Amino acid sequence: MRRSRAGWPAALLCLLLTAAVGGCTAGPEPGPELGPIVVATGSDLSSTGVRQELIRAFEKRTGRTVRIVKLPDTADGQRSQLLAAGQSGNSDYDVLNLDVAWTAEFAEAGVIRPWDAPLDDDFLTSVVKTVDYDGKIWGVPFNSDAGLLYYRKDILARYGEYAPPANWGQLKDMALKVAPAYNRDLAARAKDGKVPEDRRMYGMVAQLRPYEGLTVNTLESAWASGGDPDATSFTKGEQVGALQLGVADVKDRLDRIMPHEATAMDETESRRWFADGRALFMRNWPVEYASVAEKLTPGTQFDVAELPARAADGKRMSVLGGQNLAISAGSKRPAGARALIEALTSPSSERCLLERGFAATRDSAYRQAGKAPSCPLPPDPAEHGTTGQRAPWPGREPPYTRTLYAALRAAEPRPRSAHYQTFSKVVQIRVSEYLNSRGGTAIADELAREADEALGGRE
Ligand code: GLC
Repeated sequence: MRRSRAGWPAALLCLLLTAAVGGCTAGPEPGPELGPIVVATGSDLSSTGVRQELIRAFEKRTGRTVRIVKLPDTADGQRSQLLAAGQSGNSDYDVLNLDVAWTAEFAEAGVIRPWDAPLDDDFLTSVVKTVDYDGKIWGVPFNSDAGLLYYRKDILARYGEYAPPANWGQLKDMALKVAPAYNRDLAARAKDGKVPEDRRMYGMVAQLRPYEGLTVNTLESAWASGGDPDATSFTKGEQVGALQLGVADVKDRLDRIMPHEATAMDETESRRWFADGRALFMRNWPVEYASVAEKLTPGTQFDVAELPARAADGKRMSVLGGQNLAISAGSKRPAGARALIEALTSPSSERCLLERGFAATRDSAYRQAGKAPSCPLPPDPAEHGTTGQRAPWPGREPPYTRTLYAALRAAEPRPRSAHYQTFSKVVQIRVSEYLNSRGGTAIADELAREADEALGGRE
């Protein structure tokens, strides 16, 4: 029978954990750690539940139990719940799974504690920036994310387009040529000469509902229009113009090549449209690939590319997404929390995350087969890996890995400010007003001013 660890002295527990997973803070611990380690996290969007599997493997190895508290699905909902719990001071959370955009805010609010140890240099440089705030490291990168362009390879080729668009202008041109031609051919074959709405092909779908996804899409468009991801102000020099052009470009895409429903789409909804064959292009994260692959054949019917480049200098940029694991300031089980975080972000765990659909945060995970660490998880019997091309890909890298690796290395973090959320809300409100307006007047001056005020903490 396995003995519960609950009553064991902290020093002994620390020793055991150090032996088992290679990590524990030095120094005296206040007392024994009682009860399960509580992890608050958004749902695992991978098709296999790999995060949960990694947690179960940790429990088996160390004998400690972990309780997972599931947060709402969207980034905004998760943030409100985590922040409210942390600030009320009576939450029981030990480990928080935080969106990379929130480090500064959570650190300033005193809801997380510094990690207090340097990260080893296997973590991707761009990703490390997202846990670095005010000269300290506040957590460990769990999974990363970069925006990718999903495209209907088969249909584009049928109409003479054999490569994904190099820049955003080309994307629009291709969509304006191919989608109407496809719909005309569909109508010609229909008995009544009409295309039912749910079979009509649109040029593109993306996340334009007013939530964090809209901020992400807006920043990418501003950067593709000359914006500088490192700029600290949106009201100075070229930045105003870039924001204006970027927002206008999102609206132009919406009005000309997207269904109006895109203004209500998040990641899941846009992926549904694309997987159902209702859009030629989609901007989305790699974690959606496996779900698309359940409906469309990877490599034949669809493929992914880096997001289209900026026309002026050919630079490809996406927003760097992902989540970091941090220890909650009020944690009563910090040694356990630390050991769990180290186990979940180890080189072999990161390789598991990559093989099961997430973007790994460690460079070693992306090494060619045989040179990368191996994933120790047993293959899940529910996995349908036997069909070769179908996701997931146990023991192998997913087919999009090289594209993802390039996209990650070129991805840029969102503005790092303790007031990021106020900034993001301003963008969401202003941009969605503009997207829903007819014709619309330029909003960029106001938006730029309000964005600067928000980032500077002036509401
Ligand atoms: C993804 C990204 C996250 C981003 C969110 C926006 O979950 O990983 O960083 O904030 O999408 O919807």
